[in-house]
Amino acid sequence: MSARIAALISGRGSNLLAIHDACRDGRLDAEVVLVLSNRPDAAGLEIAAERGIPTEVVDHRAFAERPAFDRAIGKSLLAASPDWIVLAGFMRVLGAELVSQWSGRMLNIHPSLLPRHPGLDTHQKVLDAGDTEHGASVHLVTPELDAGPIVAQSRIPVLSGDTATTLSERLLPVEHALYVDALAHCLSGDAPADQLTDVAADRATHGARLATSAD
Ligand code: GRF
Repeated sequence: MSARIAALISGRGSNLLAIHDACRDGRLDAEVVLVLSNRPDAAGLEIAAERGIPTEVVDHRAFAERPAFDRAIGKSLLAASPDWIVLAGFMRVLGAELVSQWSGRMLNIHPSLLPRHPGLDTHQKVLDAGDTEHGASVHLVTPELDAGPIVAQSRIPVLSGDTATTLSERLLPVEHALYVDALAHCLSGDAPADQLTDVAADRATHGARLATSAD
């Protein structure tokens, strides 16, 4: 049975669109049942609507406190009844209660080789640190920011002359492939949601990678 995916976005939504492409052409046995943005002007919302995906806005500025924002997000998610939630460039931190409610079923993509460089400005952090490789990570979302068990990573080399812009441009298509691969793995049933955490933690500990699309 086709899995139901809800996506949370804040911006252009290219990762979401890569996932939707994969649903459309059968690489993922899934459908995107909701695209939810905290920003009404997110470019990804418009493209999602053009593709006929149900969209919703929960504008964080309308809420004085984060718990109320979280509750509104939670209500929309429950109504969409997703099997998996993908954070795809979603720029708000979700509270522990909401995250725990979807534990093992909420994924995020982060543009660094976690645990290196959590947080913002990862491309610049890579350059500042003199790293010779960069990459992206798909991980399960836990209450601590960018710290959940890693499901899959892809790597790219840092080239001489690279800037934050060139790194982000080279990494983006790698992210798209990685997110689709990681989701395919999650949906495959090889790793049921309640076991995935352990599998992912083990994989992270031993440095193995599920997806190596950029290698
Ligand atoms: C991506 O680089 C993703 O890794 C990060 O935010 C960016 C979102 O891009 N979390 P898009 O909105 O999916 O195009």
